[in-house]
Amino acid sequence: LCVNKNNQHVQATTQLAVPVNSHNEWDPLEEVIVGRPDGACVPEFTTEVKATTNEQYWNFYKKFGGGPFPKQHLEKVKSEIDEMCNIFRHEGVIVRRPDIINWSEHFKTPDFSSPVGLYSAMPRDILIVFGNEIMEAPMAWRSRFFEYRAYRSLLKEYFNAGAKWTAAPKPLMGDELYDHDYPIENMQDRKYVTTEFEPCFDAADFMRAGRDIFAQRSQVTNHLGIEWVRRHLGPEYTIHELTFRDPNPMHIDATFNIIGPGLVIANPDRPCDQLKMFENAGWTVVQAPMPTISSEHPLWMSSKWLSMNVLMLDEKRVMCSKTEKPIIKMFEKLGWWIETVQVDITFANSLGGGFHCWTTDVRRSGHLQSYF
Ligand code: NVA
Repeated sequence: LCVNKNNQHVQATTQLAVPVNSHNEWDPLEEVIVGRPDGACVPEFTTEVKATTNEQYWNFYKKFGGGPFPKQHLEKVKSEIDEMCNIFRHEGVIVRRPDIINWSEHFKTPDFSSPVGLYSAMPRDILIVFGNEIMEAPMAWRSRFFEYRAYRSLLKEYFNAGAKWTAAPKPLMGDELYDHDYPIENMQDRKYVTTEFEPCFDAADFMRAGRDIFAQRSQVTNHLGIEWVRRHLGPEYTIHELTFRDPNPMHIDATFNIIGPGLVIANPDRPCDQLKMFENAGWTVVQAPMPTISSEHPLWMSSKWLSMNVLMLDEKRVMCSKTEKPIIKMFEKLGWWIETVQVDITFANSLGGGFHCWTTDVRRSGHLQSYF
């Protein structure tokens, strides 16, 4: 027992180190979860996979869907990501990894079945931290239904150490969640392959800037999903829904990447309809330079814009691709004195993510503020 300022006796709580604490994308990074390529499987070529992947790879999905990604490619991914972990450690960041899971098992729920799970390569897609709360996103691809299993050891550990742990309601992912007549050839009409039958979202469709959270309705995040997050977080936060001229949105972090208090990297191919709102708030919006990755290099699950999918180690250090020279130049010229920590994850990019996607920042020193 101890005495508080009103002279009342209260139970003293042991001062535990906070296991989970992150409010934005740039405060000094202390602990990060880095994904694993181990056992990654190619999803079955379902409606939602077709709607979210580039046509040039549809044959890849038809051929390999339901089986593993090419083994030799995964070995290269593994060594790149191991090196990325070493670089994090060298920069003073604690690295945590998900469990190794056998993704090749066929699974069935009362509502659907799937020949394989996907992977635990992209923790950003499934986990998001709001303050001391770590949240599992429900996901929208059937192959990702059980992806949370890879993170349960870590989540239990964070929970036992005092973190708040939330799992957003899982969609049933029955046929009603998908528009099976999704007009793939006519993507300009802003139609989405997911319906509003029930809430669904991927965590990577949300970008955090303290009390302001920016989200997009995408192929995997519906309005009900965004509304669920809004009601869950309550009045302390404002959830802004952003729209982009992007015929096929999925994950906001290669479209609009907030890298500092009032500093955004924007994708020139996908202009933001609400740009004025940021300009009025005095934010700086920098257009990302064109990516340089070769068209010969397989990007099975994303566009080339992974070049702007960078991760801030703090306001002045950015982890970015060693091979994307134009964006390195952009940081040098920015005048915000940002130092680049250059890492090569070209083969890891093939699984659909850059540095932001391959990680979830569990702890950044800092507190909840308003920047908007
Ligand atoms: N789906 C988006 C984001 C990937 C992180 C893209 O391919 O650009």
